[in-house]
Amino acid sequence: VAASVITIDGPAASGKSSIARLVAQRLGRTYVNTGNMYRAMTWAVLQAGVDPKNADAVRAAAADVVIESPVVEGKIQICISGRTLTDAELNSDLVNRAVSLIASVGEVRDRLVADQRALAATGPLVMEGRDIGSVVFPDSPHKIYIDASEEVRASRRGAQGLTDQIAERDRMDKERKNSPLVIPAGAIVIDNSHITLEEAVDQVIAALQLT
Ligand code: C5P
Repeated sequence: VAASVITIDGPAASGKSSIARLVAQRLGRTYVNTGNMYRAMTWAVLQAGVDPKNADAVRAAAADVVIESPVVEGKIQICISGRTLTDAELNSDLVNRAVSLIASVGEVRDRLVADQRALAATGPLVMEGRDIGSVVFPDSPHKIYIDASEEVRASRRGAQGLTDQIAERDRMDKERKNSPLVIPAGAIVIDNSHITLEEAVDQVIAALQLT
């Protein structure tokens, strides 16, 4: 099953989401943004009134969350208790600030990783996140890691007015014990610092050497 998953990992503000979405479109694959799964879980835990710093309370609240990720028109939707979350809900300031804390909890990851692996049964995927090539599909022959220079990432972050918050998220994602952000073994690294989105998509597709 892993042979049908193209994995794309990288830090925030590297441009990996836009690249992954377009690669999936070009190849006619389903695009899975796993960040949205962690964001949805975070939204639900916050909704339950839980302090994201309290790992025990997060564990307990997360266990009660009903999360589903059906494939709709080539990409997954994320539903909590049967309701599809909007982009505004998934990307709210509160979720941005809490998501790396929630994503560091092993039980939360175990559950979402199981959902991510199950999605591979629905057809060929492009799955994007932080641990997709290292942990979720370590046997995939098609692994990409998107990076960009600190300078370029800082200017993208600055343009979004989110410099500190995103830098802190990256720090937590790289330093956490459970599935930290790393360059997966066997991944091809693409530097997205000084190329256009179109060029990045071309480079990814060329690097994959799909037959
Ligand atoms: O990709 P995005 O920036 O939306 O991800 C939000 C957060 O979700 C990340 O900062 C990280 O804490 C978490 N995440 C993760 N593992 C993934 C995808 C996202 O821990 N595979």
